[in-house]
Amino acid sequence: MTELDELAELAKRRGFFFQSNEAYGGTAGFYTYGPEGAALKRNLEDTWRDIFVREEGHMELEAPTVMPEAVFEASGHLDGFDDMIIECAECGATHRADHLVEDEIEGIEDAEAYDPEEVGQLIADHEIECPSCGAPLADEPVEEFNLMFGTNIGPGSSSPGYLRPETAQGIFVEFPRLKEYARNQLPFGVAQIGRAYRNEISPRRALVRVREFTQAELEHFIDPEHDEPPLERVADVEVPLYSAEAQQADDGEMETYTIREAVDKGVIASDWVAYYLGRSMEFYERIGIDMERFRYRQHLPGELAHYAADCWDAETELGGNWIEVTGFAYRSDYDLKKHGEYSEEDFTLFRQYDEKKTVERATVDPDMSYLGPEFGGKAGDIADALEALAGRDRSAFEGEEVTVDVDGESYTVPVEKTGFTVEEQTESGEHITPHVVEPSFGVGRLVYSVLIHSHGSDVVDDEERSFLELPADMAPTTVAVFPLMTKDGLDDRAEAVARQLRAEGFEVAYDDTGNIGRRYRRQDEVGTPYCVTVDYETQEDDTVTVRERDSTDQERVALDELPAALRRLVAGESLSDL
Ligand code: GLY
Repeated sequence: MTELDELAELAKRRGFFFQSNEAYGGTAGFYTYGPEGAALKRNLEDTWRDIFVREEGHMELEAPTVMPEAVFEASGHLDGFDDMIIECAECGATHRADHLVEDEIEGIEDAEAYDPEEVGQLIADHEIECPSCGAPLADEPVEEFNLMFGTNIGPGSSSPGYLRPETAQGIFVEFPRLKEYARNQLPFGVAQIGRAYRNEISPRRALVRVREFTQAELEHFIDPEHDEPPLERVADVEVPLYSAEAQQADDGEMETYTIREAVDKGVIASDWVAYYLGRSMEFYERIGIDMERFRYRQHLPGELAHYAADCWDAETELGGNWIEVTGFAYRSDYDLKKHGEYSEEDFTLFRQYDEKKTVERATVDPDMSYLGPEFGGKAGDIADALEALAGRDRSAFEGEEVTVDVDGESYTVPVEKTGFTVEEQTESGEHITPHVVEPSFGVGRLVYSVLIHSHGSDVVDDEERSFLELPADMAPTTVAVFPLMTKDGLDDRAEAVARQLRAEGFEVAYDDTGNIGRRYRRQDEVGTPYCVTVDYETQEDDTVTVRERDSTDQERVALDELPAALRRLVAGESLSDL
């Protein structure tokens, strides 16, 4: 079995994750986190919150998952959030055309950047067949398929809505209110952990490509001219970078830089993206990613999302493939500008000048008693066009007449009827559209990566043991409590120990079935870092055995010192230090 198969089997058997709705045949692209998986996911999300919300001093919100169509017209998702689909005429199976090309043709790695005609031509030229039934696909068209799940808001079809394809839009659309909570001061960050939905053509690789998933996203709103990240906090952090340049060079390789070196050498163009690449290293280490199987990869120009000016992905290696687990995008002012254009709200912020400025402003005050009779219903639009032209190009008013375009028609107006003047005005600031830096984490992919990277096996007491080497604060259970036997009061005593540890805030499992060796194996397999056994000695001297998952060492600890000892262990001390 491959490591991915082994993990899939363990995940299902021990309740980490499994395909949803199996009673009805299973639904591709949907997974249920079982009790162990839900706990692991929650711990991972708490760690994310700790670093990216609490430590960074950002806000967190929770927005609806269904949003009206207008949001996605503005964001560009309605038009541009497509994948390439090809349908087999023989069996009706649908496939992602760019993935077929990547899987079947040596040397093609980013077919997503090609247009559908090119991909269709490659499928024909290489005589690629349907992976489901083997029929030739050469004559089938490659088309764009929008990935959003559509619905109707309320009965009837007059109010279309979509399940959000990214949590980010729930933050962007609320910017006019959020800027008030931030007292109209940049920079500020707004985070959200929540579900997003994409109607993937070919869900695959367990939690990697699914149709419903959890994102942990931070939208950091900045003034691009004045705000700088606290780069000194991460300057010495080492990051493994696989730049676009290295990817395109014949002998290009991933290289390790400090953040300071990467910025100074221009490998990472945006200081803000560099800051978050550095900051996130602590997160990946804390949740238990194997950093030997981790890298940051820059997007190639053709890969960039429609909103992104630059983007790096954090990738983990799983079963021999590199998988994106986080996107770090410099989204510039794309989203806020769009929502400002498409809605009636103000998505700008007022930037105060250091000192007030006196500026010349050209304005018009058109004579409507002339424009009305002369241009009828167009008079208002012509007045607006004159106002815009004065702001843009005052030289247009230097002659006797001025010409403006309205709805493709030209209209000429005598300058004396426009009320054109140039006035001096004192201004204290200007309206700007903030830029956005976005670290966007795929929670399910991270859970999957942590499970695969922490999964191992060894031999203990001549028996094969399977374990998850999870960090103690990520493990679904921190401590398991066992009575040696279910008699002579040992079970009552062990239950009392379990209750006491729960009251102290530990995640505790109680297990009294099977022999002790088997109970240890069960806990090792779900990553429980510590086991406590109540035995006959406990009855005599109020001590218990504490056993460590990774070393399998055991020590006696006094019951009244047990909570403090466990806290020291969780904080990183080892059993032999107690
Ligand atoms: N917000 C970025 C993404 O969903 O990919």
